[in-house]
Amino acid sequence: DTGGYEHYLLKEISEQPETITRTMSGRLDERFHVAHLGGLNMDARETRSFRRVKIIGCGSAYYSGQIGAQLIEELARIPSDAEPASEFRYRNPVVDPDTLYVAISQSGETYDTLAAVQELKRKGGRVIGIVNAVGSAIAREVDGGIYLHAGPEVSVASTKAFTSTTVAFALLALHLGRVRDLSPADGRRIVEGLRRLPGHVEEILAQGDKIAELARKYADHAGMMFVGRVRGYPVAREGAQKLKEISYVHAEAYPASELKHGPLALIGPEMPTVAIVPDDELLDKNLTTLGEIRARGGRVLMVGHREPGSKLADDVIVIPKNEIELDPLLLTIPLQLLAYHAAVALSRDVDKPRNLAKSVTVE
Ligand code: BG6
Repeated sequence: DTGGYEHYLLKEISEQPETITRTMSGRLDERFHVAHLGGLNMDARETRSFRRVKIIGCGSAYYSGQIGAQLIEELARIPSDAEPASEFRYRNPVVDPDTLYVAISQSGETYDTLAAVQELKRKGGRVIGIVNAVGSAIAREVDGGIYLHAGPEVSVASTKAFTSTTVAFALLALHLGRVRDLSPADGRRIVEGLRRLPGHVEEILAQGDKIAELARKYADHAGMMFVGRVRGYPVAREGAQKLKEISYVHAEAYPASELKHGPLALIGPEMPTVAIVPDDELLDKNLTTLGEIRARGGRVLMVGHREPGSKLADDVIVIPKNEIELDPLLLTIPLQLLAYHAAVALSRDVDKPRNLAKSVTVE
């Protein structure tokens, strides 16, 4: 039941104010500015013991893991990184007792992720899951975890599970940070930022018609470049992935500073760029990148916060200001809508794109 929406995908994109609310519901503590994550099955001493965090997942789950790694590094100051689950399991990984392993999966059934978890467990690794489907294979295999409570995701392209996973990582980062050096003031800032997120997502969804118009304009190209820096880079990757998956428009994602080391050769009037430009400490660097693209005749659709970039961009989608650490979630929403409306404009099978399955349970 698409609930009156034309496609499940649009329904699931539109549900996000409620689904991200459900992910944080009952988990935020206003007194100590911490997150309650009872499902981790971990006492404070163990929570303090990890020296690294390694995140694994496939597809969009992996990109949400990149956002998660940055959140944990920023808020908890624990070295963290994300890797595709298949790469991890095929390279005979060193399993380290001081590392917290995090497996991400909407379905909880993705074979590569499950096999990576089993390999970790076999070698004595401490693995938690960030999973949507309750009682799924990965949920049963891990030592503990965080359920998303986002409800069933039907459309093949992941949207609400992606943003709920991002929220779950913010909670985990807060949890790991507040038993280390994250101050109560910063904890409060993040808790309050999380509480403002659903309203901010609503504000972006309200721009749906404008984004649909932009999608029709930009979908009329053979390919698109997506660029971002640091927090914006996984967002660019997810935006490119969404566009590829459901509209079949070729899309590449690069860290903005890597453009000049190769892909700038692709930039010209026939290859527009979606630039992720939040108002953070990298704003000036990103504006320089916009100038470089424009100087080669490339058109720019900027997704970010405020006006300075608009002089350098052909089109701008403005998102509300929250805490900078939480920007990736809000920056992702316009890209979901952009891909959705591009797919509709190109008459694609939005909910069941060719060659893809919702969950890949084979090797
Ligand atoms: C892919 C889906 O095959 O699996 C993606 O098409 C998804 O949308 C990926 O991100 C991982 O799935 P899951 O269920 O493990 O999060």
